[in-house]
Amino acid sequence: MNSLNFPIFNASGVWCSSERELVDLVKSQSDEVVFKTMTVKPRLGNPEPRLFIGRDFSVNSMGLPNLGVDKYCQIAEKILKYKKPMTASIAGFSENEFISLTKKVDKAPFTSIELNFSCPNLESKGIFAYDISLSLRLLAKLRKLTKKKLGVKLPPYVQRGDIKTMAEGLLKHNINFVTLINSFPLGCVIDHKKEIMVIKPNDGIGGLGGSIIKPIALSQVVLFRKYLGGKREIIGVGGINSAEDIYEFILAGTRGVGIGTALLKKGPKIFKKLKLDLHRLLIKKKIRNISDKLGKLKFL
Ligand code: DHB
Repeated sequence: MNSLNFPIFNASGVWCSSERELVDLVKSQSDEVVFKTMTVKPRLGNPEPRLFIGRDFSVNSMGLPNLGVDKYCQIAEKILKYKKPMTASIAGFSENEFISLTKKVDKAPFTSIELNFSCPNLESKGIFAYDISLSLRLLAKLRKLTKKKLGVKLPPYVQRGDIKTMAEGLLKHNINFVTLINSFPLGCVIDHKKEIMVIKPNDGIGGLGGSIIKPIALSQVVLFRKYLGGKREIIGVGGINSAEDIYEFILAGTRGVGIGTALLKKGPKIFKKLKLDLHRLLIKKKIRNISDKLGKLKFL
């Protein structure tokens, strides 16, 4: 934990796929290292171009390119010496794959496990977390396989009832944390001059990130906090670019934040700046302890 007592780190998928990137990240001021979502076997991912970075957003259809769980477990062993918390993000294509991934990362030196139930780019597979009863049944099984901190990364929901059902399931099955949110699932950019989509996979449509999803992310945090009753940790991800953005997530009730698109644009030096700026903002606001403000959002 940093001197602010509020962890700021990478969102899974950004600057965390290759060994080189993971070493960069562990040496940076990121307070934790969240690995690229790993699958049972290595994957090349979707055809390129598969990532577009706009002014206020990014759109991607990466398709889970990753080195595979075995390689990431080896990398975790190598960078253990830096003594930073490490999170394994895992995604299976079946229940059995989730089980086998959980068992493998449980044996490796990860501090926590984040179940990616929300990858937007797996054509024809659908987003797992939108099948809430199936997700909760699997969470119950996976919970029994590990004593590590176990969390789930969710997509934005558009109905309060879904958030309530999911939150109640997380409480019931003792899931330790929830990461909100993954990319908004369907976004695209059209190049009007060339009259063409800017990314290739999946009809040019992929997950949206960046500032434009911040209002969506904040609303999910507020509602999950309400239905979780503050009894589980929430990690905020979605459009965080500045100390002021982080402060909004603190008020909404997150115990840490992940940086995605802004990290993609600015690289790991962003962590130092965000921490310095947050420190200054807290001094300006005369706040000694961030926990005094956690979830202290006012309502009209
Ligand atoms: C991928 C994209 C995401 O937005 C995500 O959260 C996980 C994986 C991908 O396509 O690799």
